[in-house]
Amino acid sequence: MNRPDPEYALRRDAKRINEKLNSILPSESKKPISLHRAMRHSVLCGGKRIRGLLCLWSHEVNGQRYPASALKAACAIELLHTYTLIHDDLPSLDDDDIRRGKPSCHIKYGPAIAILAGDALQALAFETLVGCEEAPYENTIRAARILSRSAGSCHLVGGQVADIESEGSYLSREKVEFIHSNKTAELIAASLSIGALLSKGEGEDRKNMYRIGKKIGLAFQIVDDLIDLEGDAEIVGKALRKDAQKGKVTYPAVYGIEGSRKKAGKLVQEALDGLKNYPDTFKLEFLFNRILKRIR
Ligand code: IPE
Ligand code: IPE
Ligand code: MG
Ligand code: MG
Ligand code: MG
Repeated sequence: MNRPDPEYALRRDAKRINEKLNSILPSESKKPISLHRAMRHSVLCGGKRIRGLLCLWSHEVNGQRYPASALKAACAIELLHTYTLIHDDLPSLDDDDIRRGKPSCHIKYGPAIAILAGDALQALAFETLVGCEEAPYENTIRAARILSRSAGSCHLVGGQVADIESEGSYLSREKVEFIHSNKTAELIAASLSIGALLSKGEGEDRKNMYRIGKKIGLAFQIVDDLIDLEGDAEIVGKALRKDAQKGKVTYPAVYGIEGSRKKAGKLVQEALDGLKNYPDTFKLEFLFNRILKRIR
């Protein structure tokens, strides 16, 4: 079979996501101008679109029944993800001045507009997701429930709270797993989950994609911790060597660099094993391996 190049597919589909995001976001000339500028700056100034791609490609391996809805869902997830980055960078959280190689939202637009841009992006994410009207209504509502749960106090925001409250505190395996699986892995699991759900509805495949997503999501954050220690800030587009300085509870702090690398490798292998009963998984496999080997 003549397989398309996954690297090409990644660039093409990330571009499709970017174009759709551009059309979803209110124009800069629409009032309030400062807010819409800030939202567009943070969403469109870069981003690997990994969560959006996971949603699209999970939809593909699960029958790809409603591609237009899958693209909207991918954008909804990326809008929500960008809101979490804007708030994560604020002085009262991680206090980071650079994001996606550009000034962070609060540096360019001030903390008040940055907080409000995050709020508005979260609302726009759900407006976009419930607009997935090509898929059966029931699937769309379930997708909105999955995204809202993953983003809420028991998962993403709860993980962020634990991350902040643990700064400088004792290290433990349980604590770092709690933080990483909530602040990061849940949204990644939701991305794969929603891709399957929109196509096939609720069922074993949706649950399986969630389980795979928890593994790949945890690996993703372990690699983020390793990049903070060993990466090149120019390539990554954000300030590095900050986790140790802030006393963050990270995988390398708990397991060491080699131990963390091994753990991430094992999780990615388990995620790959989870794909074995699906057809044409080469793009997802490529993305899972990229998540492990990425340098940005
Ligand atoms: C950064 O996520 C935040 C983490 C959960 C580590 P990404 O590395 O996916 O950021 P973008 O979207 O590509 O900028
Ligand atoms: C961010 O984790 C997780 C969320 C935004 C929910 P990090 O704080 O490690 O992400 P970076 O390193 O700033 O991208
Ligand atoms: Mg953080
Ligand atoms: Mg941060
Ligand atoms: Mg980090």
